[in-house]
Amino acid sequence: MNIKSVKSQFPIFKKKINGNSLVYLDSANSSQKPKAVINRLSHFYENEFSNVGRSVHSLAVTATNRFEESRDIIKNFLNAKHREEIIFTKGATESINLVASSYGDKFMKEGDEIILTELEHHSNYVPWHYLRDKKKAVIKFARLNENLEIKTDEIKKLITNKTKMIALTHISNVTGGISPLEEIIDLANSKKIPVLIDGTQGAPHLKLDMQKIGCDFYVISCHKMYGPNGLGILYGKKKWLDLLPPYQGGGGMIDEVKKETITFAETPTKFEAGTMQTAEVVAMGEAVKFIESIGFKTILDHENQVLNYALEKLKKNNSIKLIGNPEKKASVLSFTIKGIHPHDIATILDEDGVAIRAGHHCCQILHEKIGVSATARASLGIYNDKDDIDVLDSSIKKCRKVFNI
Ligand code: ALA
Repeated sequence: MNIKSVKSQFPIFKKKINGNSLVYLDSANSSQKPKAVINRLSHFYENEFSNVGRSVHSLAVTATNRFEESRDIIKNFLNAKHREEIIFTKGATESINLVASSYGDKFMKEGDEIILTELEHHSNYVPWHYLRDKKKAVIKFARLNENLEIKTDEIKKLITNKTKMIALTHISNVTGGISPLEEIIDLANSKKIPVLIDGTQGAPHLKLDMQKIGCDFYVISCHKMYGPNGLGILYGKKKWLDLLPPYQGGGGMIDEVKKETITFAETPTKFEAGTMQTAEVVAMGEAVKFIESIGFKTILDHENQVLNYALEKLKKNNSIKLIGNPEKKASVLSFTIKGIHPHDIATILDEDGVAIRAGHHCCQILHEKIGVSATARASLGIYNDKDDIDVLDSSIKKCRKVFNI
């Protein structure tokens, strides 16, 4: 693949940041958008905009068709069995809140247990914390090993006959570690425990096949996979979605409303209350087409090459400490530099046009475990190349000079 031609499809890279070319290493936070997605948004607003699923005029019918076509594109992309298994939400956070709330209300009672891991970001902890409070449930955290990896045995140890959910990340947004999903899902299936995978970091980098992965719920953040902001996807097995009560009430998700009784639509409509994102859903279909036009094998090979190059370079620098050492790793690289606060690192790098994230990356539990309040993080997208890593490396060296380290 010619990476330059992929990069040229992202208009943002024409911009200078502090007089320098943009080196965007913050895709785990949010990815940049290709022209095809931006064009699709404006084309929809200029030519096809209407609310969906309501009116019968021509524009409304077109908009509804485009919206539902996008559901089909995503169903195929994920190899879900049924199109009704694809629900549009406000984001990954809302998707997990939906499952915690609807599943928790229906299936959990006092003393029931949820297993999470120490690697989860706040979106895959806080919604379960609410459920814990509401139901007097118990959250157990599977401990990470010294490389900050999730190990199936640590989850196995925690399972009891009260375990009602296992929820874990596909790829860590701090260490880049790839979780052993197959083993964990096999284990959970053997005990009939549902599994939710937080795929916010997995979906942009790995080929997904819901029927093969076999999880019960999989959560996607569209803005992290070259798609529009304000949109998430919740994949849920139909057998669960048929059983779960709606998460929010409002227009569009009902069947019949009377003064005393309300009946609800079927899935997925019953989970899509109120006016939905329209242009965003349609443009997400375009983001999927963009990813498919490159292909996951190419994406992964390329990102792995850049990641390994970055690891090699940064490991040569004695003052850098890499966070975690997972055997299977993708696209994310967090580090600290002795004597320099991560926010200072990020600020100095920004002077050279290098965009990284610094902070706890919404993973305070993990940061507490490793004994620091913040780390610096470079994360990759399809548009990054080895030149970007060279700029990162020399900018980090400059940082050390500024702080005289
Ligand atoms: N958006 C968050 C990140 O940067 C969670 O990883």
